[in-house]
Amino acid sequence: MGKITIAVDGYSSCGKSTLSNNLAHALGYAYIDTGAMYRAVTLHCMDKGIISQEKFSVDGIITALASIKLEFHFNKISDKSEIYLNGKDVEKEIRSMEVASLVSRVSAIHEVRVQMINQQREMGKLGGVVMDGRDIGTTVFPHAELKIFMTAREDVRIQRRKLEMESKGIKVSEEEVRKNIHQRDQDDTTRKESPLRQAEDALVLDNSNLTREEQLVMALGWAKERM
Ligand code: DC
Repeated sequence: MGKITIAVDGYSSCGKSTLSNNLAHALGYAYIDTGAMYRAVTLHCMDKGIISQEKFSVDGIITALASIKLEFHFNKISDKSEIYLNGKDVEKEIRSMEVASLVSRVSAIHEVRVQMINQQREMGKLGGVVMDGRDIGTTVFPHAELKIFMTAREDVRIQRRKLEMESKGIKVSEEEVRKNIHQRDQDDTTRKESPLRQAEDALVLDNSNLTREEQLVMALGWAKERM
């Protein structure tokens, strides 16, 4: 069977990465979490003092791009691919609330998007990839054979993000998660550069009432039809 490209887009905390990782695993494909790339750029700029809650230097971010190297390595123990920033595994650090509160602004910068999109296209150019994000089916791979647009009820999304953070040892209140999700949805859908929107040919998967297995069966069915 031919290897296809699968684009998974949707709002924050809809379970995109869980489904994408499971789908990639089932098909023997690579999984690329593009949100992790924007988060790693944000973390780098925070560490270098270029951005914080008080300051945000767009010029500083653009200059810093030249010294950012991103890679994904598969971790056999967690069974997931993890992101490395300049040779260091930052998978846990990029999930902090600080990063989450700044990443949408960083990801709205034209130069940041151009660099990330070029890298994403390079990583997926041979097919056999499941890539998740906000603009994969619309901008990165507009000709992807399968596009999935994920949604879920807000209460479900909040609980999922809270549990995800707690499982990583990060304590956070429901209110903080709610505010962050609202803000990011707002930023991601209204920005000028490739805003989040559903591609016309995307299949919608609302997983509010679906188990992980049920979602996987559904997506695998769609993928097999297209191979
Ligand atoms: O999927 P995530 O929550 O880890 O993504 C983090 C942020 O990165 C999100 O607020 C929007 C941005 N992002 C983006 O602009 N384009 C993508 N393809 C993926 C993520």
